[in-house]
Amino acid sequence: MRGKRILLVIGGGIAAFKALDLIRRLRERGASVTPVLTRAAEEFVTPLSVSALAANKVYRDLFDLTDEAEMGHIQLSRSADLIVVAPATADLLAKMAQGRADDLASTLLLATDTRVLVAPAMNVRMWNHPATQRNLAILRGDGILFTGPNEGDMACGEYGPGRMSEPLEIVAAVEAAFASGPLAGRHVLVTSGPTHEPIDPVRYIANRSSGAQGTALARALLALGARVTFVTGPAAVPPPDGADVVRVETAAQMLAAVQAALPADAAVFAAAVADWRVANASGSKMKKQAGQAPALEFAENPDILATISKGPKRPALVVGFAAETDDVIAHATAKLARKGCDWIVANDVSPETGIMGGAENAVTIIRQDGSDTWPRMSKDLVARRLAEEIAKTL
Ligand code: CTP
Repeated sequence: MRGKRILLVIGGGIAAFKALDLIRRLRERGASVTPVLTRAAEEFVTPLSVSALAANKVYRDLFDLTDEAEMGHIQLSRSADLIVVAPATADLLAKMAQGRADDLASTLLLATDTRVLVAPAMNVRMWNHPATQRNLAILRGDGILFTGPNEGDMACGEYGPGRMSEPLEIVAAVEAAFASGPLAGRHVLVTSGPTHEPIDPVRYIANRSSGAQGTALARALLALGARVTFVTGPAAVPPPDGADVVRVETAAQMLAAVQAALPADAAVFAAAVADWRVANASGSKMKKQAGQAPALEFAENPDILATISKGPKRPALVVGFAAETDDVIAHATAKLARKGCDWIVANDVSPETGIMGGAENAVTIIRQDGSDTWPRMSKDLVARRLAEEIAKTL
């Protein structure tokens, strides 16, 4: 990050206080920070503290004659190696999605030809609102980079997604944006973890996937310079730093998140998606009735891998996993044809192998024109080798 110039747009949300720490962390790593405050941001942090921490002038006003004489707003928007928007409020994201330019921050974001990384922060209902979700889809399509939001307690007293990424998570996303390597400039989508299919508000159907292999793979792809969108079910291991993490619960949500993240140069489907969901899931907690087991009805979930492999926005390389307990190669080869993907990473998940939920994996890579069996090794090493294979192919 040394020597990189970062234009930091601070939006008007309670998370603006974290932007002060972010400035410090970026500068510690050798980056220079030029701060821009929206009007609303000044209600949360003062221009003086921002300027002091950045050791730089703070830009605030579109129509400041002195600023315009020194450095016009168009030039300001292009003089950075990366623009970071933190916190990116619902309002700022809406302006970006619509291409509005009614203050300095939105004008810079419209005038720039530099990459933009946003760290959204807002109330959970604002985040979940269809209008915000529409804006996010537009911005992803425009190539805007995302970090967060995280799920947790919010300043407004509610709980859910909407908390801004922590400063060090934003730093990791900035580092990922500057990463070099054979996959620099490439976008790779990874699905990971199990899905949870609700039975009622407190019960669900799940599986034993820990998300370890998908997470290791995302890390290995990031290390080779890729931009990674990581769509994850409720996994046991934390998601990789530097990826754009999209958290989902059900297979239907996973499919929607994957579709929203396209286009991508490659997609790797490492998630253990539930094949079935409960069709008659109850809206309220099911009560025990003596002597009577509940009659659950099932409906088939969409096959995400097959849908994307056969869909209009198919990435150039599509990789699936095949978790099998018997006839591994035969089943996996049939899966390759059935799902329409380019490679299948087949593994034996019989309980005696200890692979599901464990630290090691033994895989065979099945392609249209043959297969390679790798020796048993750590999931990290499988991930690194797979990432290298992907880099060679793209
Ligand atoms: N997969 C998916 N969507 C589903 C089911 C599976 O995207 N609804 C993907 C997985 O992420 C994996 C591959 O398909 O990459 C194979 O998953 P697996 O569970 O082994 O295959 P199934 O299609 O469920 O086949 P079967 O149950 O017959 O083994």
